[in-house]
Amino acid sequence: MEQVKVCAMTAEHISELARLEKLCFSEPWSEAGLAAELENENAFFRVARDAHGNVLGYVGMHCVAGECYIDNVAVFPDARRKGAASALLNDLVDWARQNSCAFVTLEVRPSNSGAIALYQKFGFEEVGRRKRFYRDPDEDGLILTLNL
Ligand SMILES: CC(C)(COP(=O)(O)OP(=O)(O)OC[C@H]1O[C@@H](n2cnc3c(N)ncnc32)[C@H](O)[C@@H]1OP(=O)(O)O)[C@@H](O)C(=O)NCCC(=O)NCCS
Repeated sequence: MEQVKVCAMTAEHISELARLEKLCFSEPWSEAGLAAELENENAFFRVARDAHGNVLGYVGMHCVAGECYIDNVAVFPDARRKGAASALLNDLVDWARQNSCAFVTLEVRPSNSGAIALYQKFGFEEVGRRKRFYRDPDEDGLILTLNL
């Protein structure tokens, strides 16, 4: 990607991110669910955009007492493999380090080899498995954690 800019999620991104959620997930976050995060002081939601301001993807995380839980990472299909998710995760991990957080953790489908490869590049390690964490289709959730 020639240029990926990362900024805070604002109200103007919500409809595009809800569209992205529907493209990516069987249980997508709604516009209302995303908009609620704008008011949540524990939420850290960031958006990647190209040089023209087009939304490429986003990441969402919640942090309480230095423990960070990533909820969502998604990039539009035609923008993938160009570094957008990496730019978002760099931004997120930098923020977590600057705020003296202990770890960042997330769940991922074992079948999602692309996402697992991405997280492993950032140093996330498998620490456990939640049985039948996902629905439609049913699948366990691998727990990947990056200790900071
Ligand atoms: C997973 C996802 C967020 C990756 O976004 P992206 O912007 O394409 O990721 P990046 O371009 O930053 O990839 C960085 C590295 O991660 C790895 N990677 C990313 N996608 C991969 C894939 N499909 N297959 C293999 N490796 C992959 C590669 O090592 C890649 O580096 P490279 O392109 O130089 O080989 C994107 O594919 C996506 O939105 N998928 C659908 C939603 C999803 O599954 N989210 C994760 C839920 S836990």
